[in-house]
Amino acid sequence: MRIDVVSIFPEYLAALDLSLIGKARQDGLLDLNVHDLRDFTTDRHRTVDDTPYGGGAGMVMKAEPWAQALASVAGAGNDDGGKRPVLIVPSPAGAVFTQAMAYELAEEQHLVFACGRYEGIDERVLEWAGERFDVRPVSLGDYVLNGGEVAVLAMVEAIGRLVPGVVGNPESLVEESHSDGLLEYPVYTKPSSWRDRNVPDILLSGNHGKIAQWRRDQQLQRTAARRPDLLEKIDAQQLSKADRAALQALGYEVTADRVLRRP
Ligand code: ADE
Repeated sequence: MRIDVVSIFPEYLAALDLSLIGKARQDGLLDLNVHDLRDFTTDRHRTVDDTPYGGGAGMVMKAEPWAQALASVAGAGNDDGGKRPVLIVPSPAGAVFTQAMAYELAEEQHLVFACGRYEGIDERVLEWAGERFDVRPVSLGDYVLNGGEVAVLAMVEAIGRLVPGVVGNPESLVEESHSDGLLEYPVYTKPSSWRDRNVPDILLSGNHGKIAQWRRDQQLQRTAARRPDLLEKIDAQQLSKADRAALQALGYEVTADRVLRRP
């Protein structure tokens, strides 16, 4: 997969040299390139922003440096089959980034991330970019960051680890939070007794069937306690009899296809 990131703070993306993503770059699984937006300006001051039309606080990123930068990376991928690269524009006004979106984007050949700063990028850039990219404004969540760089670090890590070969043991991707719409069960390691706290007996029992059932119940309990909104999005047709019983005990009504919180 090819990834291009355009930012006025390319040093911010240095973290992508580290850990699993850094290793994936070294191994040639991710061809990740960071570009300085100011390299695409033509004035002496390398200006990237200006005041907003209509007034208001803050500055807006100018269109032309962005058009130059995006045009220069648009054709850089190995975009076979005429598929357009995806242009991800981090913004609190975007669609919320989810694990499902990470899986979808991990299938792409070429991702381009445009890190906005200040009050955002001149809207005409996104319209113009629609001619050559699949443009996706994406938000990390309902809060405001100072710019897109931190969001790109999070998204590249979430997407990159789903690219085949990046995570050594692909089984570890199966049993993690959000992979099945639920939060992950709690985990423990040695020693079995630590500061008067014991690992749940069941995990020491060697009974794999019972352990799997206990973990599943923990997933349901945790999700009900921390993220009840997730339970209401589950397709109840996927639930076992034991899951249904556990959810009913937690105060949920399970219909043929939905999980509803009892009033
Ligand atoms: N830029 C500023 N805030 C953001 C957010 N919540 N998500 C993505 N990009 C952003």
